[in-house]
Amino acid sequence: MSNQEIKRYTVTAALPYANGPVHIGHLAGVYVPADIYVRYLRSNDQDVAFVCGSDEHGMAITLRAKKDGVSPQQVVDKYHSIIKDSFEKFGVSFDIYSRTSSKTHHETSSEIFKEMFEKGLFDEKKSLQYYDEENKQFLADRYIIGTCPNCSFDNAYGDQCEKCGTSLSPSELINPRSALSGAKPTKKETRHWYLPMDKYEGWLKKWILQDHKEWKANVYGQCKSWLDNGLLPRAMTRDLDWGVKVPVKGADGKVLYVWFDAPIGYISATKEWAEKENKEWEPYWKDKDTKLVHFIGKDNIVFHCIIFPTILKANGGYILPDNVPANEFLNLEGNKISTSKNWAVWLHEYLEEFPGKEDVLRYALCTNAPETKDNDFTWKDFQARNNNELVAIFGNFINRALVLTHKYYDGKVPTREKLFDIDEKVLEKVKKAPAKISKSIENFRFREAMTEFIEVARVGNKYLADTEPWKLIKEDEERVKTIMNIALQIVANLSVMGQPFLPKTVEKLNAILGIVQAKWNMGGQDNLLSSGHQINKAELLFSKIEDAEVQTQIDKLEATKKENEMESTPITPVKSEIVYDDFMKMDMRVGTILEAESIPKSKKLLKLKVDTGIDKRTVLSGIAQYFSAEEVVGKQVTILVNLAPRKIMGEESQGMILMAEDKEGNLKFLQPSDSVNPGTTIS
Ligand code: 2FM
Ligand code: ZN
Repeated sequence: MSNQEIKRYTVTAALPYANGPVHIGHLAGVYVPADIYVRYLRSNDQDVAFVCGSDEHGMAITLRAKKDGVSPQQVVDKYHSIIKDSFEKFGVSFDIYSRTSSKTHHETSSEIFKEMFEKGLFDEKKSLQYYDEENKQFLADRYIIGTCPNCSFDNAYGDQCEKCGTSLSPSELINPRSALSGAKPTKKETRHWYLPMDKYEGWLKKWILQDHKEWKANVYGQCKSWLDNGLLPRAMTRDLDWGVKVPVKGADGKVLYVWFDAPIGYISATKEWAEKENKEWEPYWKDKDTKLVHFIGKDNIVFHCIIFPTILKANGGYILPDNVPANEFLNLEGNKISTSKNWAVWLHEYLEEFPGKEDVLRYALCTNAPETKDNDFTWKDFQARNNNELVAIFGNFINRALVLTHKYYDGKVPTREKLFDIDEKVLEKVKKAPAKISKSIENFRFREAMTEFIEVARVGNKYLADTEPWKLIKEDEERVKTIMNIALQIVANLSVMGQPFLPKTVEKLNAILGIVQAKWNMGGQDNLLSSGHQINKAELLFSKIEDAEVQTQIDKLEATKKENEMESTPITPVKSEIVYDDFMKMDMRVGTILEAESIPKSKKLLKLKVDTGIDKRTVLSGIAQYFSAEEVVGKQVTILVNLAPRKIMGEESQGMILMAEDKEGNLKFLQPSDSVNPGTTIS
């Protein structure tokens, strides 16, 4: 850090909904950058509170509970523990990971609401809202589904069609139905407390658009668009029985809006942490010298930049975010990550399937983080980053330096003699690295920071490759001492600068080097290891990931894709009922295709000669786009032999070949499971 004055920081990471485990999209978007930032601040001796916890309220939870046939409490208990445990194992260094069902949180959010209510900051209004009569529950727009008026997708949400992206309101949906019961929603009057966002518009415009021009372009742009479109009053309460009860008389059956209570969860978590640490929580939220930074994904921008700051401002006495470095989304193998479709790499599963490789995931996600646009995670890229960068550059350099030190000097750091031009240039590059990395981190450019950090290892690797101490050892022992001393100083620098990025690896490296973790301001120095210092035996910090390991992951995703396709295959409505005799009128048999030829004027038809067991007849079949004439000869097929002959394109067709059609419209033959004689009847 350029200026070593100690500052207080409150760093928050979005509270994940406890309706599913954490996946790589969450990590790349929020938790990896937040953790790098916080570790960096701590390494600079800053006073930091890094808070997070599970978001346990709202319909995301109640819907999940309904789907799983359990209570909302069971849902949040299950996922809170999976999430908390996986963050801990992965090494996200929260000072506290709390949950919004905690007593402190219920009290804190309830008090804040009450104070605002008493100050007259809300407008009480009655309105008509969608209602599910079967479940006796009001429905948020998101929980009304129906057919999109734009693209006819029949599972569009009441606020947006996920297929074509059109913004919708529930009244635009064709055949709207409740996501809870499938029933047609009705409208019912209800009363809520609204935060008049429109009254804060002028203040927000100045505070964001004028005073925070330095915010990331994606964040600033989204805020500008919200503000340009004009803000509307927003209800801060909901009709639901799961959440923080509205602390106002006559508000039975109502809870605080989840986006009112969730961000207050940051304050509640800070209180719980401070109490445990015997500290005051207030300076972290009320002292104007404290920097408040929110790490979030792009879908949370409006809540953290507009709604929560308005709540804080309206309350008075609270600080406002200094920065909100929101990221875009990470996709997975070309598709949007989706909890409901199980299209994700789940952190808890990764930790089991790739034990000891926490930092590989950190590295892959940070170097590919969606900082300015959506990005894609692929297992092949993950493997390449590990094998070509962490193993071949970072690990290789450190391993060479350590192994040679043991080989030539029994693991003792050799003394340094006269420096050559190449040595000075290398040391100069290392010296400049911490300031560069600092600048990138402080500007929330973590990809750049990670690249600059790995560059130090690259410089070290190249230095050894250029100086070739393993060759020189026979000719110039003194020179090799200098080279190895410099290489080891670079290794020690990787420990200093690597701690925010690859904390588990650096812990191992420190144990090998026999040093305690140095602070950031030691970075860049060329004498971190004194001559004669004893180094422990080397162990590999990274190992190659084989093709088979990533293939297993790719196969797993393929299987998910197939399952999803099966679930989403549209079901053709059942035709009207027939009697047995109707069915018996059809004479279906197994036939064998003897000959096939295309019909010059038709793209669709093949002319087939079929052995039906009764005769050998001509059938025209619309399969030319799916099969060539050659490939169908010899195939056994199902043929309806008593269909009245029809003339098609001047040719008479005597019967019909039965085909199955999949969801993409591809045709497949219906064949007996074993070969049978032509003419075998089907009934
Ligand atoms: O989008 C989400 O996953 C929300 N649970 C984030 C909440 S962040 C904060 F406000 F608590
Ligand atoms: Zn649509």
